[in-house]
Amino acid sequence: MRTQVAIVGAGPAGLVLSHLLHLRGIDSVVLELRSRDYVEQRVRAGVLEQGTVELLQATGVGERLGRQGMVHHGIELRFGGRRHRIPLTELTGRSITIYGQQEIVKDLIRARLEAGGTVLFEVEGVRLQGLASDRPVVSYRHGGQDVELACDLVAGCDGYHGVCRDAIPAGTLTVYERLYPFAWLGVLAAVAPSAEEIVYTSHQRGFALHSMRSPELTRLYLQVDPDEPIERWPDERIWEELQTRLATEDGWTLGEGPILEKGVSAMRSFVVEPMQFGRLFLAGDAAHIVPATGAKGMNLAIADVQVLAEALATWYRTGEDGLLGGYSAACLRRVWRVQDFSAWMTGMLHRYPDDDGFQRRLRRARLEYVAGSEAAARSLAENYVGLERV
Ligand code: FAD
Ligand code: PHB
Repeated sequence: MRTQVAIVGAGPAGLVLSHLLHLRGIDSVVLELRSRDYVEQRVRAGVLEQGTVELLQATGVGERLGRQGMVHHGIELRFGGRRHRIPLTELTGRSITIYGQQEIVKDLIRARLEAGGTVLFEVEGVRLQGLASDRPVVSYRHGGQDVELACDLVAGCDGYHGVCRDAIPAGTLTVYERLYPFAWLGVLAAVAPSAEEIVYTSHQRGFALHSMRSPELTRLYLQVDPDEPIERWPDERIWEELQTRLATEDGWTLGEGPILEKGVSAMRSFVVEPMQFGRLFLAGDAAHIVPATGAKGMNLAIADVQVLAEALATWYRTGEDGLLGGYSAACLRRVWRVQDFSAWMTGMLHRYPDDDGFQRRLRRARLEYVAGSEAAARSLAENYVGLERV
């Protein structure tokens, strides 16, 4: 088998890349480890920057997003039992949209298949060879057959636990990593959201987040210990803890409902440099992870492949490899800005095991500054709605 670009992973990065390349007349094959059903049901991100929405709409995959996405013009910071609104649109002229990551994945898979694209699910044993040559080969097993896929380039869009990053020879990459001493317990509940906007809460018992997916579905998160067994969190305990952390002086109430889904995610900052080796280009979570407090991971993954699609289009059209050679540097500038913002939001809102009175007071001072100063709020807002795209 042969294609122009072999794409490993059918998450937001791999699927958007395949879609953008198709629009530029470039052929690709997407190889996904999991089943179609699995990737379409996996509950993860929900906040889209305006730049992400604009890209999906401009490229013909934003119809359902336009109908079902919830456009928000502000977020709330809650601490000391009080609420403080950050008016994103007033401060930046831009907005965010809430629309589940798995909905984007569904829309993209449908668009690719309807356009005659190849997205293969339940692909096993992906191995990359010849990355340092101009004839790389991806081998894998699919439908009981061993396959060799010859290509011009490989896009490693297979997430943090994928195999592409590990195909780069040892010693080539520099790894930057921070693990946080807490995790997030996330739940999806069948109950109407209790607030109109996303609520980020700093409480002495730890961080809590109130978000949503639709007028009938609330998405909530609690800071918990790292590697916390989910069994220790029966539904009643989750609601009790959410009620405590989200409580306000003005008697705001949190509606409860059946919990449909729950899971614990580690909080990590991670970057590899460069995001390229020979004919392999890493994109999205395969190259970098941010703690979810800034709501940036998926947006960053999509921003990477926008740069990559542009660079590949130029390379195929003109043979010029300047943009492709600059891919990693171009992406890393945004990646590090977002790393800083995500780490800053995380530090401001979470409780740390080694906290002392000094640390707690610094955090409170930071929260009060953002809530009280327009300059500080604008800085948060411009990062939150997203930096300009290519
Ligand atoms: P992934 O979505 O991980 O996709 C990689 C794909 O590759 C997967 O489908 C995987 O099955 C496949 N794969 C893995 N290994 C192989 C292999 N060997 N062979 C073939 N295929 C393979 N981001 C935001 O922007 N906003 C948010 O609000 C937000 N909230 C989040 C909340 C939580 C609880 C979590 C966990 C994440 C959140 N994120 C958020 C981050 C976001 O979900 C990720 O950054 C995003 O999924 C990255 O997309 P990706 O395509 O790079 O990787
Ligand atoms: C979500 O809705 O899942 C969500 C919202 C804000 C975040 C992270 C996740 O910072």
